[in-house]
Amino acid sequence: IKKIGVLTSGGDSPGMNAAIRGVVRAGLGEGLEVFGIYDGYLGLYEDRMVSLDRYSVSDLINHGGTFLGSARFPEFREESTRMIAMENMKKRGLDALVVIGGDGSYMGAKRLTEMGFPCIGLPGTIDNDVAGTDYTIGYHTALETVVEAIDRLRDTSSSHQRISIVEVMGRHCGDLTLAAAIAGGCEFFVTPEIPYTREELLAEINAGIAKGKKHAIVAITELICDVSELARYIEKETGRETRATVLGHIQRGGAPCAYDRILASRMGTYAIDLLLQGYGGRCVGVQNEKMVHHDIIDAIENMKRPFRKDVLETAKRLY
Ligand code: F6P
Repeated sequence: IKKIGVLTSGGDSPGMNAAIRGVVRAGLGEGLEVFGIYDGYLGLYEDRMVSLDRYSVSDLINHGGTFLGSARFPEFREESTRMIAMENMKKRGLDALVVIGGDGSYMGAKRLTEMGFPCIGLPGTIDNDVAGTDYTIGYHTALETVVEAIDRLRDTSSSHQRISIVEVMGRHCGDLTLAAAIAGGCEFFVTPEIPYTREELLAEINAGIAKGKKHAIVAITELICDVSELARYIEKETGRETRATVLGHIQRGGAPCAYDRILASRMGTYAIDLLLQGYGGRCVGVQNEKMVHHDIIDAIENMKRPFRKDVLETAKRLY
């Protein structure tokens, strides 16, 4: 292979720039030409790409977001759209594509691979919901952000003896909520993996109050319920003032933490190793601290991320 493309797709995550940098610097070091594609699959479809040199990725390792831009582009599910993207890559002489993103982005990479164009997927999302890896690029930075927010909420909820409900991102994955609940010392948590009723949560909060808890923080994953409505219910039933906070996109921004910078750099350079070894249609992961790769089709269709029951048990013992 001589020329490759790199793009970031779906929701951005801190460390994506470091991953692009890893791909570019390692790729150039091996004599490849590396094209940066703007705005994910949308830019691929619209043929917006530029050849990158080593200075194109200078001063970026410490920046959140992605300098290439990202987009959600559902039209890429259409074969006719992907055909145009493929033609653009062929016209430019690209031999392979590195896709940095979450499971939606992996789906695009899988489809291009099935159409005969070799892709390597790198897991970039704060949700930590990608199969075949212990951690995704951006997860640890987002975790720091959530924990810092919870620490702040603790100050004010303890001063006012209130119950504070904090909604955490993660889509259908509770990893961010669970880890933040432990690190933030939350009194209660609700995640998508554990069946939940608001009556059970209320009973737990009441049991805490009976034990003498003066205030409480509840971490809950997004998309489970309307947290403002939940706060009103808890306030009415407990007689304690309750406030809801939605952390939202604050969680996606900010300088990547050192772990994410290192993970992204390792994954970016490893993608080049795989391509030079002739691999395509793979996705990169870190498992037990080692770089690994899996078949991207298998990862999407068959592999499941194991839910960390041991971590859950730890969290419960800290209530
Ligand atoms: O996948 C990352 C993520 O931040 C999720 O946690 C969240 O559900 C979603 O993206 C939000 O998407 P958008 O930025 O398109 O509103």
